[in-house]
Amino acid sequence: MLIKTAKFLLSSPDYKQCPPDTLPEYAFIGRSNVGKSSLINMLVGFGGLAKTSSTPGKTQLINHFIVNENWYLVDLPGYGYAKVSKVQQAKFSSMIENYIANRTNLRCIFVLIDSRHEPQTNDMDFMRWLGENGLPFAIIFTKSDKLSATALQKSINHYKAVMKQYWTEMPQHFISSAEKKTGREEILALIEKLNS
Ligand code: GTP
Ligand code: MG
Repeated sequence: MLIKTAKFLLSSPDYKQCPPDTLPEYAFIGRSNVGKSSLINMLVGFGGLAKTSSTPGKTQLINHFIVNENWYLVDLPGYGYAKVSKVQQAKFSSMIENYIANRTNLRCIFVLIDSRHEPQTNDMDFMRWLGENGLPFAIIFTKSDKLSATALQKSINHYKAVMKQYWTEMPQHFISSAEKKTGREEILALIEKLNS
């Protein structure tokens, strides 16, 4: 898919303040620092559209970007960042859950997982919640440039093995690197298919 335009539209503290749900929408979610904002910038090919930071907790609101004037990308706050207070974490969790449960135009939720990390309980719980609620999602293994090809394959195979304990079929998944633009075409192809 050719990206002609990508613009920041709105930051909302709550799903009720989000733009009208008349266009297809894709949200990026995952633990703090996993690379959500970087991936959004890589996909649209405009550095600096979504704000990134090496300090976890940079994204704190529901951020809507409009692409080609006809679909939305959404950058969400990360979950599970230990240095954010329990109260703040609970606030983020309910904001994200309400957003996902109420946003009828969400065509796919991209759950980002750091390629290098062991499967984490909060990611597993979150995907189980999506599955139980019949919400469409795909996994993106991020920062693949930080591992050798062999180590990457090993890590992803391990993740799949753990997923097998809960899922009869491995959910759709992609491998990405914002640095090397890995996965861009594949992810955009899925979005294009779901848009039509
Ligand atoms: P929060 O908004 O805090 O939840 O973080 P986020 O998930 O949006 O992460 P962000 O995109 O801000 O990236 C966090 C850090 O990881 C930054 O220092 C990025 O430069 C780095 N990073 C993100 N993606 C990649 C990648 O594919 N490869 C490498 N090497 N670094 C990456
Ligand atoms: Mg971010």
